[in-house]
Amino acid sequence: MRKNEGVALDKLPVEWRALLAAAAEARGKAHAPYSGFAVGAAVRAASGRIFAGCNVENASTGLTVCAERVAIWKAVSEGERQFQALAVVTELGSMPCGACRQVMSEFAEDMPILIADTAGHVLLTSLADLYPDPFTPANLKGKPAWKVGDTGRQGS
Ligand code: THU
Repeated sequence: MRKNEGVALDKLPVEWRALLAAAAEARGKAHAPYSGFAVGAAVRAASGRIFAGCNVENASTGLTVCAERVAIWKAVSEGERQFQALAVVTELGSMPCGACRQVMSEFAEDMPILIADTAGHVLLTSLADLYPDPFTPANLKGKPAWKVGDTGRQGS
């Protein structure tokens, strides 16, 4: 399957279905009384385990945490450090925010990302496509990709 391709749900490779189902189920647990915007996410870690999360809002607005980061932090706090795939479900098929893309890049050089809406439309994309120039540990050492001539990403 090509990247950035809209896919009919019934054509979705079987390995995606469990991840999508976990994200959709987590969406049902969203705590989003302020925005009314429920998000569910699920990551499959290198161990094969799936971790799901929902957005958790707060009356102190800035404390809200996105579903993707809840899923990732659950996994990391269980000892996972590498992720293989991530799925996000919203009513209309919204894209992950920039903060979540940066957090994903901490634990995955690249990975396929499935964006889904609740009507069954899905987009298969990737972290490298959505976030091509992350802030990596190399940046902390003064070696951003533009200086070493290598983005460090697949296909670059
Ligand atoms: N939200 C997510 O859960 N993930 C994103 O990638 C973007 C936004 C949540 C945060 C907030 O609870 C609601 O969506 C509206 O911004």
